[in-house]
Amino acid sequence: MTTGPQEPDARAELFSEERSAEVVNAAFARTGDPRLRDVLRSLVGHLHDFVKDVELTEDEWNAAIGFLTATGQKCDDRRQEFVLLSDVLGVSMLVETVNHRARGVATESTVLGPFHVVDSPPRPLGADISLTGGGEACLVTGRVTGPDGEPVAGATVDVWQADADGFYDVQRPDTVPPANLRGLFTTEADGTFWFRTVVPRHYPIPDDGPVGALLEATGRHPNRPAHIHFLVLADGYAPVTTHVFAADSPYLDSDAVFGVKPSLVRDFAVVEDPERAARLGLPDHFRTVDFEVVLLRR
Ligand code: BEZ
Ligand code: FE
Repeated sequence: MTTGPQEPDARAELFSEERSAEVVNAAFARTGDPRLRDVLRSLVGHLHDFVKDVELTEDEWNAAIGFLTATGQKCDDRRQEFVLLSDVLGVSMLVETVNHRARGVATESTVLGPFHVVDSPPRPLGADISLTGGGEACLVTGRVTGPDGEPVAGATVDVWQADADGFYDVQRPDTVPPANLRGLFTTEADGTFWFRTVVPRHYPIPDDGPVGALLEATGRHPNRPAHIHFLVLADGYAPVTTHVFAADSPYLDSDAVFGVKPSLVRDFAVVEDPERAARLGLPDHFRTVDFEVVLLRR
C-alpha cells in the first residue's frame, strides 16, 4: 500500500553529498508498505555508500546503465539474463541460503537455474529419461523421507539434467526430442524412486550475453560442475529445489553460480556387473548414484 503523492514541504532538506542517502530516503518516508520502506531505505543507503566508496565516474555510471540495458534486452520467454546476473553475483544462492537457514536434517537446497522451462512428463519408475542414448549409462536411486525418517509415499520427484555433452534438451531443440533427460516420478509406498539416465557432464552457463562478457572481463570461467536437478514436492511437506553433484566432476570448487553444497555431492559409482546390468536393462558398464531427499513438514 502506498500513500498519495507527497505535498511540497518547504522544510525538506536539499540534496548534498554528505547526506545524500538521508535526503533520498526522506523522499520515500511516506511509503505506506513498511517492508517496502525498509527495503528501500537499506537499498538507497548501500547504493549511495557504494558510489561514494568507489567514487564512481560518469563514464562508469554510463557503462553500468549500458550493461543493465543490454541485460534487459537479452531477456525473452526463454532467457532471463537478470537471473543469470544474480546467479554469477552469488545473489541467487544468498537469497536461497538466507531463506532456508537452520533446516536441520532436511536436504539442502540450491539454485533452480534457467532450464526448468518446460514441464517434465510423468514417467513410470525405472524409465530411461535419456531418449537419445550416448554417454555413460547411469542408475539413479533414491528415497524421499520426512524429518523423522518416515517414508513419503506419493511424492513428486521432478528431475532434469544436461546430457553427456553438457547440453539441456531446450538448448538443442532441432536435434534432441522434447523432454529428453527430464521426468516426473512418483515415490512408492516406502518413499523410493529410481530411473535410468546418462551421467551428466559439466557445462557452461549461457555466456553469449552481457553476463558472459562480465565473466570474460573478470577472468572467471562460466562452468558448472556436473549435476542432476531435483524438485521434490509432497503434500504436507515443504518442497525442496536441489541438485546432486558428481563427486568426480571438475568445477566443484569453482561453480560459476556458487551452487555447490558439500552435503549434495555424491559418488557416481562404477558398476561392472553384467547380471545386474541385464536385470536393469543397462549396458554391462554403468554408474549409479543414490540420493535420499529429506523434506521438512510444513
Ligand atoms: C543450471 O544448473 O541449470 C543453472 C543454474 C544457474 C545458472 C545457469 C544454469
Ligand atoms: Fe543445471
